[in-house]
Amino acid sequence: MKRADLLINNAAGIVTCASVSGPRRGSQMSEIGFIASASIAVQSGIIVAAGPADEIASTYDSNRNIDAAGRMVIPGFVDPHTHAVFSGNRLGEFEQRISGASYLDILASGGGIHSTTRATRSASADDLIRGSLPHLVKMLELGTTALEVKTGYGLDVENELKLLEVIAELDRIQPIDLVPTFMPAHAVPPEFAGHTIGYVDLIIEEMLPAAMEWYERSHFSLDNRPFFIDVFCEQNAFDLLQSERVLAAGRALGMKVKAHVNEFTNLGGASMAVALGAVSIDHLDANSPEDIDLIAASPAVAVITPAVNFNLASRHYADARSLIDAGAALALTTDFNPGSAPCYSMPLVMAIACRYCCLTPNEALIASTINAAYAAGIGDRVGSIEVGKQSDLLIVDIGDVRQLSYEMGGNPVEIVIKKGEVVCGDE
Ligand code: NIG
Ligand code: FE
Repeated sequence: MKRADLLINNAAGIVTCASVSGPRRGSQMSEIGFIASASIAVQSGIIVAAGPADEIASTYDSNRNIDAAGRMVIPGFVDPHTHAVFSGNRLGEFEQRISGASYLDILASGGGIHSTTRATRSASADDLIRGSLPHLVKMLELGTTALEVKTGYGLDVENELKLLEVIAELDRIQPIDLVPTFMPAHAVPPEFAGHTIGYVDLIIEEMLPAAMEWYERSHFSLDNRPFFIDVFCEQNAFDLLQSERVLAAGRALGMKVKAHVNEFTNLGGASMAVALGAVSIDHLDANSPEDIDLIAASPAVAVITPAVNFNLASRHYADARSLIDAGAALALTTDFNPGSAPCYSMPLVMAIACRYCCLTPNEALIASTINAAYAAGIGDRVGSIEVGKQSDLLIVDIGDVRQLSYEMGGNPVEIVIKKGEVVCGDE
């Protein structure tokens, strides 16, 4: 008999979401890897075996056993695109939008990202840690075990570095693994109003080198977690050329590339991001047919944000069906932020994506686990139940995988296991 630190027994089934190499693409997104009556063995936080219960029982023994009690076990959700560190809220704008104001009009008139930037600049790092921690607690309870988090509400050297420090401290003090993304090109700050090029120069000359230096000293670099550069390529934010300059400069320093493109306006950002070797290309609401083919043929993961469309009461959603049918690897995200998506829940995003983006429930699960992990640059360590992966697992109270997307607004997650430890729920 082999010894394991932990055995998870008596699951009605496990859904592995396994993928041989890279994210699941196109029609492969329908295959979720279901094993009925299964168990999982964990050693030092890593999965050492996952398979039929009788096989595991005849091979592994442990002093620590968790009884899944006939429930299912799935990989922890990975949320690959959030703006989770900010101060204040946007309740006033929520009401303005209900009365007919648009997201881009509010941004152009100095609200939106600018209003959160004002609040975030005047908050201390400690205030931001105290304010952001409850968001992460809610996400963990809903089954998110890894999370990409962007800066982008500091918009100057000092405040963007403050946000990176906050992300690092949040990573240390709670169980969710964070992946940092530097996003000074989220909006043009007021001191550069009408002079975007001056701000882009500041980003390239000062902010990116300072951020890279921060990363190289950080525990993220020691742990081999990636560091991303991201940009908001949009009207009243950064045009195509400005976006390309920022991403190319970040890439030259060693950052991996992400981009917000085609959220409201198609400025040509999708082909620019593909050409720069983006790991993920995000939003994709206003894609052209050429964009869809280009993204599908590229290694980039297409990340869609249906909670944004839902929150902005849009009737238009990203055409995920065409992306998957063209062979793309698609991922889902909450895009959690105080303006366009105050949404914590990956299960709710799955529910919306199935209804409005025509994903099947199986595709929605793959898009929230293994593909989301690749979009966050950590697909080699999380996102699936496979030997060698981190044991980030959810015990969910469902009898059928389709139930995860079918139900709306509840929480199917009963127990969250992070690196072999129960971090939410009662065993
Ligand atoms: O992904 N679009 C740009 N950034 C966020 C919104 C940020 C905000 O409104 O504060 C997004 O939708
Ligand atoms: Fe975003």
